[in-house]
Amino acid sequence: MNRSEIIAKHQQFLFPSVSTFYAEPLPLTRGEGKFVWDVDGKRYLDFFGGIVTVGIGHCHPKVTAKIAQQVRTLQHASTFFPHEATVLLAEKMAEISPGTLSKTYFTNSGTEAVETAVLLARLHTGRTEIIALRHGYSGRSQTAMSLTAHSNWRLTPVTDSGVVHAHNAYCYRCAFEKTYPECNLLCARDIEELIKTATSGKVAAFIAEPIQGVGGFVTPPKEYFLEISSIIRANGGLIISDEVQTGFGRTGDHWFGIEHWGIEPDIITCAKAMANGTPVGATVTTPEIAAAIKGPQISTFGGNPVTAVAALATIEVIEEEGLLANAAARGSELAKGLSQLKTTHAIVGDVRGKGLMQAIELINDPESNEPSPLAMNALLEETREHGLLIGKGGLFGNTVRLSPPLNIDKADVDAAIDILDRSLSAVGKTIPASA
Ligand SMILES: Cc1ncc(COP(=O)(O)O)c(C=O)c1O
Repeated sequence: MNRSEIIAKHQQFLFPSVSTFYAEPLPLTRGEGKFVWDVDGKRYLDFFGGIVTVGIGHCHPKVTAKIAQQVRTLQHASTFFPHEATVLLAEKMAEISPGTLSKTYFTNSGTEAVETAVLLARLHTGRTEIIALRHGYSGRSQTAMSLTAHSNWRLTPVTDSGVVHAHNAYCYRCAFEKTYPECNLLCARDIEELIKTATSGKVAAFIAEPIQGVGGFVTPPKEYFLEISSIIRANGGLIISDEVQTGFGRTGDHWFGIEHWGIEPDIITCAKAMANGTPVGATVTTPEIAAAIKGPQISTFGGNPVTAVAALATIEVIEEEGLLANAAARGSELAKGLSQLKTTHAIVGDVRGKGLMQAIELINDPESNEPSPLAMNALLEETREHGLLIGKGGLFGNTVRLSPPLNIDKADVDAAIDILDRSLSAVGKTIPASA
């Protein structure tokens, strides 16, 4: 099928809610390493990786070989029948997860991983109330949408009434109009007040993404989670770290994002990069908390042999190729290049992130700092022309999200910065006039 036939059928037969990037959607046909090709054979350097998912590059030969072999051997048996790959993956999750987290429940998506985490926290504590963060994204189920505080993605009716939303640590646009560190972490300390005023005082859990993904890679100060965890734990609640975007080395040096903030969560949720693009979700916790789910449970596809071998191979590649360190090194180069762009392009308002999870926020001008979704959309088109895929995010749709595979090299960072530089110049010339 050609480009227009695919787009026509997409419009005709999929839900209209299935959103795409670009004025004209971009049908892809092939991927290899850091590159993808569109249906017309044009090649792109992929600096979004699906949606922060292709952690070790497209169609990594090791992952592909393991999947192919497993599909030929045993594709499906269900959670009623233990499989070697599933138990080895669970053992590996225990090894790489922080602290005493050593029990895993496998599902198929981040949404299900979050659902499992919330259920677990409620059963373990015997409480129902959950504190989530503004600008956070948790998925597309009813509970996940209730946790989400990003109005675009909160479709009605949102039914989970036990959720309240705290301020996030969005330093660039601080809700309290303070500046770090003089703010003394007011956003974190406000949670004490939130518990007193908006809950019964009996909080089951606090859930947060260490770096808010869909929210535009909002990156809290280093003391933030320590402050919050002491408040939540003093009030008898658990800490859930949603690692769906930040997991599996994305933030550099560590397997999981929360490790940068020096706290041990009670539960972590994973998906996306865990199996490099094969659908899998996981909720990892301590043996004591895992025991809170008493009844029998099934997840028909959860932890099936094919995704389990894919996840195991993905983790092995990250270990063998030293990708936690590479993500940190390339991430520093990328952050440096983006900071340089901020000095030369007035429409770049903020640069933030960790490792290979870096963002720039686009504004109309440095005086007003007004978000510029127009600039974002124009930049998407411009970078597409130049053969670079980037992501979009943020509450205002004005944040460029960059999350390339962890095994890129410095030349790839330089190539992306060069394209961004040229594209920002082109966009900068047109945006102020049309904003
Ligand atoms: C932090 C976070 N949690 C949960 C989800 C939901 O994951 P999924 O789309 O696999 O259901 C997402 C998806 O973007 C996410 O970014």
